[in-house]
Amino acid sequence: MAGIIQLLLLLGLLPSMPPGAHCSDIEENLLILTVATEDSDGLKRFQRSAQCFNYKVKVLGLNEEWRGEGQKVRLLKSDLDQYADREDLILYTDSYDTIFASGPAELIKKFKQAKSKVVFSAESVVYPDRRLETKYPSVQEGKRFLGSGAFIGTANYLHKLLADWDDADDASSQLFFSNLFLDPVKREKINITLDHRCRIFQNLHGSVGDVVLKFENGRVRARNLAYNTLPVLIHGNKATKLQLNYLGNYIPRSWTFETGCTVCDEGLRSLQGIKNEEYFPLVVIGVFIEQPTPFVSEFFKRLNNLQYPKKRIQVYIANHENHHEKHVAAFVGDHGAEYNAVKFIGPEEATSLADARNNGIDMCRQNLECEYYFSIDVQVVLNNSTVLRTLIEQNKSIIGPVIGRVDTLWSNFWGALNSDGYYARSEDYIDIVLRQRM
Ligand SMILES: *[C@@H]1O[C@H](CO)[C@@H](O)[C@H](O)[C@H]1NC(C)=O
Ligand SMILES: *[C@@H]1O[C@H](CO)[C@@H](O)[C@H](O)[C@H]1NC(C)=O
Ligand SMILES: *[C@@H]1O[C@H](CO)[C@@H](O)[C@H](O)[C@H]1NC(C)=O
Ligand SMILES: *[C@@H]1O[C@H](CO)[C@@H](O)[C@H](O)[C@H]1NC(C)=O
Repeated sequence: MAGIIQLLLLLGLLPSMPPGAHCSDIEENLLILTVATEDSDGLKRFQRSAQCFNYKVKVLGLNEEWRGEGQKVRLLKSDLDQYADREDLILYTDSYDTIFASGPAELIKKFKQAKSKVVFSAESVVYPDRRLETKYPSVQEGKRFLGSGAFIGTANYLHKLLADWDDADDASSQLFFSNLFLDPVKREKINITLDHRCRIFQNLHGSVGDVVLKFENGRVRARNLAYNTLPVLIHGNKATKLQLNYLGNYIPRSWTFETGCTVCDEGLRSLQGIKNEEYFPLVVIGVFIEQPTPFVSEFFKRLNNLQYPKKRIQVYIANHENHHEKHVAAFVGDHGAEYNAVKFIGPEEATSLADARNNGIDMCRQNLECEYYFSIDVQVVLNNSTVLRTLIEQNKSIIGPVIGRVDTLWSNFWGALNSDGYYARSEDYIDIVLRQRM
């Protein structure tokens, strides 16, 4: 999470190209159906990728209460009723964790090559019931098991596929579709196959190491190295959301070598037109002094020089060092009155480091007017005085400036996490900290 957000910021610091024209022509006989109850960032990313390729997308269930996996089958089934006799192609996919990497023409071609009426995405791991494993046909190459997160078929056959669904909204759709597929009679009648080699669908679970970015002219897609395929749809199922976030920072053209970042200017919040200082968002700045640090008075000078109306800033200072009490006192004495409010706690108050940080954010939480909380450690040098405005103008829920150390590759940006949730270096880390991916 932190990774992608900070990447967005880094990208946001430079001007970027306006979103270009569509990447593909529209296909009238292809419809994308998805179920999403909430208009999340994930859905927006999915829609942006679909828009790039001119896919026709219909979102089912928006703003309904989420009751479980079965709900999506119910919604899909009732929507498909209207196409019961049609042969139009319909692709169903989850959307919070899914991105299109290619367009309708390629999708349709690959569907036809599969020589089936319904093609499901394939998984390398069997679930939800491991006992089903032995019932699966063996495969020479590729993933052997059905994944219900995405499938494509002709409308009339999808109608057959869903005809028997009568389960509760919290029932497992994965189990329902697996059982259909594992019944040899139904499998043949509904004419179902799996996309074993990820020609259409790439489920990332079990394949994270096989999928790499492939930069093309002004576009980016994913290559599956295990099967040497270029999947059309990338799905970050199970615990692969972070990997999907990484791929989605590029695919299909969020960032390319030719254009730089194409999404960084979306949804910005400008503070420029605000004439009256009173209308600036109220910000609480939490300042943390946890160890003896050089140049603390310079830190406060820079803080005081931030180009932002002081009447709209509240400052919370947690100082754990006796040695710095005089620096805090000098700042509060000289400038405290210029701010909306200033609160500080000293080393004698024996607050734990963690409590101090919680208290800082509470100062914002407990104030209905507070729109932003900005946390900064005293050893950080923010030498750009417009940084606070710049961050707010990015209009993200969480964002941080990229902080580096001169002449080293160290930064506060975590490009990736390992399986323990600790720091891992991402493939693009060095390019990012050297500001070559803006
Ligand atoms: C500060 O950051 C803003 C936004 O990135 C940039 O436009 C401006 O040039 C920077 N100012 C300085 C002095 O580097
Ligand atoms: C499945 O569909 C394909 C493509 O339409 C067709 O060629 C094939 O005969 C069908 N198979 C069965 C068993 O119906
Ligand atoms: C800022 O982001 C919020 C939440 O995504 C959005 O509703 C709003 O429209 C954005 N503001 C602007 C000015 O685009
Ligand atoms: C900010 O600090 C960096 C690193 O020391 C330096 O390269 C840059 O020129 C400084 N910018 C300003 C505006 O002082």
